[in-house]
Amino acid sequence: MARILLTSGPTRQYIDPVRYLTNASSGRMGCCLAEATIAAGHEVIIVSGPVQVSYPEKAKVIWVNTTDEMLDAARQQFKQCDGLIGVAAPCDYRPEFVQDQKIAKTGEPLVLQLIETPDVVATLGAEKGSRWVVGFALETEDRRFRALVKLEKKSCDLMVLNGPEAMNSEENQVEVLAKDGSVVASLEGSKTEVANRIMQIVGQRLIDA
Ligand code: C5P
Repeated sequence: MARILLTSGPTRQYIDPVRYLTNASSGRMGCCLAEATIAAGHEVIIVSGPVQVSYPEKAKVIWVNTTDEMLDAARQQFKQCDGLIGVAAPCDYRPEFVQDQKIAKTGEPLVLQLIETPDVVATLGAEKGSRWVVGFALETEDRRFRALVKLEKKSCDLMVLNGPEAMNSEENQVEVLAKDGSVVASLEGSKTEVANRIMQIVGQRLIDA
């Protein structure tokens, strides 16, 4: 049995007390992976941004809002885990300054200066030691190439490549890519089916290896 950390859902970066930037992510794939992980007999800890899905009761869920909060919580939990599945879609940018009062309309364009947030998977990947890391990449062009670049940059052991069709859908179509650039599997079906197959591959290649 392994203890697995899952990052799931989007994060929010506030501009003022009522407005925020976010990423389109329902948390559904994270939820299906949590179910598959538990069904395979493993323990799961989820660090999740705001989502509507109901994670399995057996999962320990830590709720966060911002990417920095996701990183802090994930880093803390990763210490006790055997591996990470990074299925979250953290918001990659945050406003340099957050206004403490609601920004009032002036009729003029509003310019926002955005800076990058930390990359959760890359940070944990760099610190992983003997633990394993599985990343997800959503790509719209040069899909396999871009996903493999991310696999290497983020020190992942496997990268799951999906397209924008995955967003807010009950179905998914993915490729599981390995460090040597090979396609371990091409999977298609409901997110539940795809999650179960991903967990089988993670079990064979990373947990029982
Ligand atoms: O956003 P990107 O396509 O680079 O995401 C690829 C992987 O990196 C995913 O596993 C995602 O969860 C993770 N990621 C992250 N923190 C970010 C951006 C992405 O953990 N700020």
